[in-house]
Amino acid sequence: MKGLILAGGSGTRLRPITHTANKHLIPIANKPILFYGIETLKEAGIKDIGIILGENDPEAVKNAVGDGSGFGINVTYIYQGEPKGLAHAVSCAEEFIGDESFVMYLGDNLLKKGINELVADFKKNNHDAVIALCKVKNPQQFGVAEMDHNRVVRLVEKPGNPKSDLALVGVYVFKPVIFDSIRKIKPSLRGELEITDAIQGLLNDGCNVQAHIVKGWWKDTGKPEDLLEANHLILDDIEPLNKAKIEDGVKVHGRVAIGEGTIIKEGSVIRGPISIGSNCSIGPDTYIGPYTSIGNNTVIRRGEIESSIIISDTIIDCGGKIVDSLIGKNSRIISRETLPKGYRFVIGENSEVNI
Ligand code: G1P
Repeated sequence: MKGLILAGGSGTRLRPITHTANKHLIPIANKPILFYGIETLKEAGIKDIGIILGENDPEAVKNAVGDGSGFGINVTYIYQGEPKGLAHAVSCAEEFIGDESFVMYLGDNLLKKGINELVADFKKNNHDAVIALCKVKNPQQFGVAEMDHNRVVRLVEKPGNPKSDLALVGVYVFKPVIFDSIRKIKPSLRGELEITDAIQGLLNDGCNVQAHIVKGWWKDTGKPEDLLEANHLILDDIEPLNKAKIEDGVKVHGRVAIGEGTIIKEGSVIRGPISIGSNCSIGPDTYIGPYTSIGNNTVIRRGEIESSIIISDTIIDCGGKIVDSLIGKNSRIISRETLPKGYRFVIGENSEVNI
């Protein structure tokens, strides 16, 4: 069995971060989202993995993952070119997949319990496809499965009036028959070749499509608030490992992961669960609160930060409290004592500032 991770999407809902960065490389607890997907496939015994790249900084993905040997897998890169939908992305991998079955995994998804059971179900029962489903409160934002007891009856992509609250999680297992089905579908109203429509095609052709309800949480990290929630969920399980140099009068509570070369300066309070990268300088008199991830080479002086992701290489010296924030690489948030008083901004396109 092979694996196919889709890492081509442009991440429009994560602008401005994705103006310059591939969304699959945004770190959650200091690890790129994409790496969680790779590890999930590897845990399910899949070592031959194709990664679909789009137009948004494909080289960065190649640099980060390399040939896969760092993960104990073999990676083949496949270029999608112009993005024309998930089914189009899959069709680009037909040669790589050949006549094997494969797991299709949307690279911005996180699943607490992984995919081992899903893959085992597919292998044991010789299904043509297995789709992962999860109950959600907002089904109109997803592909939705209508069921009759355990049988999948119909799949609809982003229905205006959903008949079920079971969303299609971005993980699927297919036999190569899916490629025939993709050849038959037409673009949807949003102009994309939908994998949901291709699976509906399998159902229409009498193929055996099995539903698998995921256990544990599932997170699709398409929007900033999803990233912050994913950060929260991952930090809840973080392995504590503190390599920081801690000065006098610092208080460290709870589960804390801090990298090499980081210094926590006097009078600061660090309250886990948190993840702080390498070569950061925190303090003096700074509070880093629960559910915060801070990337490498970041300087934070004074002030408080809670429930936020600071990607890396950033300086924050503003004295105030920062909450529920997603701050891109190489940012500066500084309060100056000089006149005239007032906010001074240099803010990229599609930024959001709440004061
Ligand atoms: C895609 C799929 C949708 C699925 C979702 C899961 O939506 O089209 O069926 O429920 O991923 O994350 P998109 O993220 O392209 O809006």
